[in-house]
Amino acid sequence: MANEIVKDTSVLLTEKRMFEPGNEVIEKANVKNWKAEREKGKDLEAYWGEKAENFHWFEKWNKVLDESEKPFYKWFTGGKTNITYNAVDRWINTAKRNQVAILYVNERGDEKKITYYELYKEVNKLANGLKRLGVKKGDRVGIYLPMSPELPVSLLACAKIGAMHSAVFAGFSEGALAERLNDAEAKILITADGTYRKGSVINLKNIADEAFLQCPIIETMIVVKHCGNEVNMSDLSGKDIWYDNLIEGEPSECEPEKMDAEDPLYILYTSGSTGKPKGVLHTTGGYMVGTATTLKTVFDIHDGDLWWCSADIGWVTGHSYIVYAPLVLGTTTVVYEGAPDYPDPGTWWKIIEKYGVTQFYTAPTAIRHLMRFGDKFPNRYDLSTLRLLGTVGEPINPEAWMWYYKNVGKEKLPIMDTWWQTETGTFMISPIPVSPLKPGSATKPLPGIEAEVVDKEGNRVPVGKGGHLIIKTPWPAMLRTLYKNPDRYVETYWNVIPGGVYTAGDIAREDEDGYFWIQGRSDDVLQIAGHRIGTSEVESAFVSHDAVAEAAVIGKPDPVRYETIKAFLILKEGKKLTPDLMTELKKQVRHELGALAVIGEMVQVDILPKTRSGKIMRRVLRAREKGEDEGDISTLVE
Ligand code: WT7
Repeated sequence: MANEIVKDTSVLLTEKRMFEPGNEVIEKANVKNWKAEREKGKDLEAYWGEKAENFHWFEKWNKVLDESEKPFYKWFTGGKTNITYNAVDRWINTAKRNQVAILYVNERGDEKKITYYELYKEVNKLANGLKRLGVKKGDRVGIYLPMSPELPVSLLACAKIGAMHSAVFAGFSEGALAERLNDAEAKILITADGTYRKGSVINLKNIADEAFLQCPIIETMIVVKHCGNEVNMSDLSGKDIWYDNLIEGEPSECEPEKMDAEDPLYILYTSGSTGKPKGVLHTTGGYMVGTATTLKTVFDIHDGDLWWCSADIGWVTGHSYIVYAPLVLGTTTVVYEGAPDYPDPGTWWKIIEKYGVTQFYTAPTAIRHLMRFGDKFPNRYDLSTLRLLGTVGEPINPEAWMWYYKNVGKEKLPIMDTWWQTETGTFMISPIPVSPLKPGSATKPLPGIEAEVVDKEGNRVPVGKGGHLIIKTPWPAMLRTLYKNPDRYVETYWNVIPGGVYTAGDIAREDEDGYFWIQGRSDDVLQIAGHRIGTSEVESAFVSHDAVAEAAVIGKPDPVRYETIKAFLILKEGKKLTPDLMTELKKQVRHELGALAVIGEMVQVDILPKTRSGKIMRRVLRAREKGEDEGDISTLVE
C-alpha cells in the first residue's frame, strides 16, 4: 500500500550536471525532437494508432482505446494479430530471412547463431509439439528454463498457438516455482537439465522435480538437453519427455492463431507488499505495439544493429526487450547465459568487442559490481561499436552513472535510464537518445505517457518534494488484470490514490526542469540486485524454520545490490541466534525463495512494533534504522 512518504525528500539532489547528446547521436536518431514527440503523444489514440500501423494485423482494430470498463482498459479492440507472426514469420520472406535473429553466447565462450528462418522452423516445431500434447489457446504453459535458445523459442511457440506462457526465473527455488505454477494452473512445464553459472552446472531438472511434487496439475514435463549433465527422467510418474524427442518429426510449418488484440499473451509473477505473488497478465496487441515502439524510440534500433539486453528472460525485462520487441523490429538480439564476472570481470566487454554490439542495456547493480574491479577491464576492449547504453531496475547513483559513462561510453554515449515495471510492460519514464541527461534521473515520461508526483489525496506536490509516482492515462502495454484476481488489481493499482490513476508504488520527485528522480518503493517490497521481493514472502520463509516465532524484514542499503534483507527475529523460547542458527536460516530462506533472497543482517529481538490489528509496522523499523524520528506512532495505529 502506498502508505508513506520517505521522509527526507525535500532536499533536491545536489546533482546538477547535464549531458547533451553529440551530433552523431542526433543525426541517427529515429526521433529527433523530444519535445515535439511528447506533444504528439498527448493525443493517445492518434499517437498509438499511428504506431500500430507499423505491425501486421490479420484484421484492423475498430477502436484504439476503449475506456468503457476502466480500469479494465482495452486497446486496439476488434484487431486481430499474432505477436509471433510479427516477431518471426513476417521476416522470412524478406531480406532478413538469413539474418541472425538470436545470438546465444555463454560464459564458457560457446555461441549459437539462429537466423530468422531457423527460428521460424524451430518455433513451429515446438508449437506443433505442444499442440500434440493437447495444449490449446488459453491454456497455461509453465516455463522454467535457463538463458538457452529454447527459452525464447518456448515463449514464441506458446504465443504462436495462443497458449499463455508463465515463465519463472530459473534462480527461484522449488517452493517459489510450485507456488507460481499452481496459481497459473499450468498443465505443462518446459524445463532443462541445467544452466551454466560461474563455471558450474546447476541442475534445474531436480528443482523442477521437487516442484512437481507440489503441483498436482502438471501432467507433462518437457526437458531441454542443454548442459548434457545427468538427470533423472520419469522417475516420478512417466511424465517426462525430452524436448528433442517432442519436436522430432514435427512439421516446420504452423498456422498462427489469429489472436484478438485483447487475448492474453502471458502471466508473469511479481512480488507485492502482502500475500502471494501477483500474476501480472499481459495481452497481445497493445503489448506488441508498446514494446516494439518504445524500444525503437529509446534505443534507436536500426537495421544491422546488434542489441544486447543483459537481463534474464525470466523477468519482464527479458520478455519485453530480449524476446518480443527486438524480434518484432527484426533486429538481432543477444541471449547471454552466465555471470557478468566469469571467467573474469571483462566477460561482457569482450562479448561487445567480439560481436560488435551496438546498444547495451543492463542494471545498476551489475555496473556497481563491475566497477569494483576497476577501469582496466572495460578499457582492455574495443567498445567502439556501441552507440547507446541503458540501465533499468533501480535508481542509478550518479557515481555508477559516471563510471558507466566514462569507461563504457567513453564520454560520448547517452545512457537511457529507463523506469518501468513488470506491470507497465514497457519503458514509461525514460530519455530518448536526443534528451539532455542528468546522472541519476530517468528524465521525463515517454511520448504517450503521462506521469506525475502527487500526495495521498492525488494533489501534485511542489517541485523537489517527494510523493507517490502515478500514471494518469492508460498505455497500450499496461497490465490488464492480476490473473484470477481482478479485485486485487483494482485495489493495488487503481484505488490507492483518488482520481482513477495508476499508482506505481514508487516514491519520486520532480525537479524544476520536470525531470523525475525515482527514490525507491513506497511499499513493503525490496529491490535486491534489481530483483523485486516482497517482505512478507521473506518473513514467511523465516517463520517456516522451527526456531523462529516471528519475523519482520526491511531493506538494508547495500553498495552493490541496492538493498539486502535485514531481518528482525523473535525466536522460540530458549533459542539464541547463534552463528550456526544464522547459517541454517540463510539456507532455509534460500531453499524457500532462491538465491536472490540475499540476507545482509539478522538480529534477535523480543518484540516487534505492531498496529492494533497486529500488522507489523516495518516503517518504524526502517525509521529506527536510519536514526530518524519514528513519527507519531499513535497515528500509525489503525
Ligand atoms: C520496480 C519495478 C522493469 C524492469 C525491472 C524491474 C524499480 C525499475 C527503475 C529505474 C529507478 C527503477 C522501481 C519499480 N525501478 N527501473 N530506472 N530507476 N527505479 O521490474 O521487478 O517489476 O520492479 O523497479 O522501484 O517500481 P520489477
